[in-house]
Amino acid sequence: MITLPDLPYPYDALTPVISANTMHFHHDKHHATYVKTTNELLAQSGGAPKDLETIVVDAHRSGNKTLFNNAAQAWNHGFFWMCMSPARQQPPGELASAIGTAFGDLPGLKTKFVTEGAGHFGSGWVWLVADGAGAITVVPTHDAADPLSESGLTPLLVCDLWEHAYYLDHQNDRKGFLEAWFDTLPNWEFAASQWSAGRSRGQAWRYPAPSRSMAAE
Ligand code: FE2
Repeated sequence: MITLPDLPYPYDALTPVISANTMHFHHDKHHATYVKTTNELLAQSGGAPKDLETIVVDAHRSGNKTLFNNAAQAWNHGFFWMCMSPARQQPPGELASAIGTAFGDLPGLKTKFVTEGAGHFGSGWVWLVADGAGAITVVPTHDAADPLSESGLTPLLVCDLWEHAYYLDHQNDRKGFLEAWFDTLPNWEFAASQWSAGRSRGQAWRYPAPSRSMAAE
């Protein structure tokens, strides 16, 4: 059975951009429900326990939309928590160079990231992704879709565009949320480790392994 990982920081660590109230709802209700529903669907279908990355890719390939939506949302949220840091950071070394090549500078990336996220119709995610050569782009996805299902693209950073991510704190101002988020919360050290992994240097982040209780069943 897949698990609900704890947040990597306290619930109030991301204030004022994201309040503790939002984090409690987002993690304890929304993420928890995606995990619970994924486990219920897996229990119905039987079969050997798999890691969440495999579940997401297999569900996408087989067209199992209900399982995909819940499993991908579980993965996306686990990844999203890792993409934020209470301490303000700057992109390190080689990642900063890649950002410069693709967007001119960090403000150039911010403009692209915020524009794509604010202009995205409906629910979804806005991602910073890299190909195998280290070239980076900004890609929005709808609903639960994510780069796991896109061959060759490694996610570096993501921001949640679903209203539950920002409505309690920013109401309908998605653009204002994205601007404040980009200025203060990205975990650039994490993004840099993902960027290196995308170039086959190190291991990309993986969702916590399935719990042993299910594996023993
Ligand atoms: Fe969310």
